[in-house]
Amino acid sequence: MTPRQADHPIDPLFLERWSPRAFDGSDIPDADLAAIFEAARWAPSAFNSQPWRFLYARRGDENWQRFLGLLIPWNQGWAHSASVLVYILSDTLPMTGRDGTPKESRTHSFDAGAAWVSLALQATRMGYHAHGMSGIDYELARAELGVPERCRIEAACVIGRIGDPAILDEKQRAREHPSDRKPQSEFVFAGAFPR
Ligand SMILES: Cc1cc2nc3c(=O)[nH]c(=O)nc-3n(C[C@H](O)[C@H](O)[C@H](O)COP(=O)(O)O)c2cc1C
Repeated sequence: MTPRQADHPIDPLFLERWSPRAFDGSDIPDADLAAIFEAARWAPSAFNSQPWRFLYARRGDENWQRFLGLLIPWNQGWAHSASVLVYILSDTLPMTGRDGTPKESRTHSFDAGAAWVSLALQATRMGYHAHGMSGIDYELARAELGVPERCRIEAACVIGRIGDPAILDEKQRAREHPSDRKPQSEFVFAGAFPR
């Protein structure tokens, strides 16, 4: 497998982050997990409103099976080997209006996305991998996790140390490699949107 090649020089961390499905299930020390969430904490957000919320379970704790059961079957099929499963939420009303009432932020999801990628990059820097997932039963997750109306469930992710691809089924194993990207010419434009 050819290693990822950037078209322009970037910090290797961006290429080292990828989304494996085989994890070794080893425990993540509390201090490491706290550091991973700390990186998310320092993400930028509109008006510093910090709308991200994280709900997590550790492999084998009292919430683990319940958290796992909120993923679609495909994701359950591999995520069970990870060490931590996180639901990433955003508060749609993270600010306070002049009259003291909660105020909507247009960018609550965007800001939560910034926090998620900070988390993922910090995990990579520490020798872990994070794998994002939108394959969730969102309705069930809202009920099971007691998510208030004002919060949006954005996605989930697992975190862990990479494992032996041999634990995966054939379909999963075939995808167990870092992916490539479109060239910049397809998504970066000088000036207005191209016609
Ligand atoms: C928001 C989000 C949702 C995703 N949902 C899933 C998912 O449900 N199941 C899955 O196997 N991978 C999922 N992925 C992983 C993507 O397929 C992966 O990030 C993408 O193919 C790029 O590969 P890389 O992360 O290895 O660079 C998700 C990633 C993100 C960021």
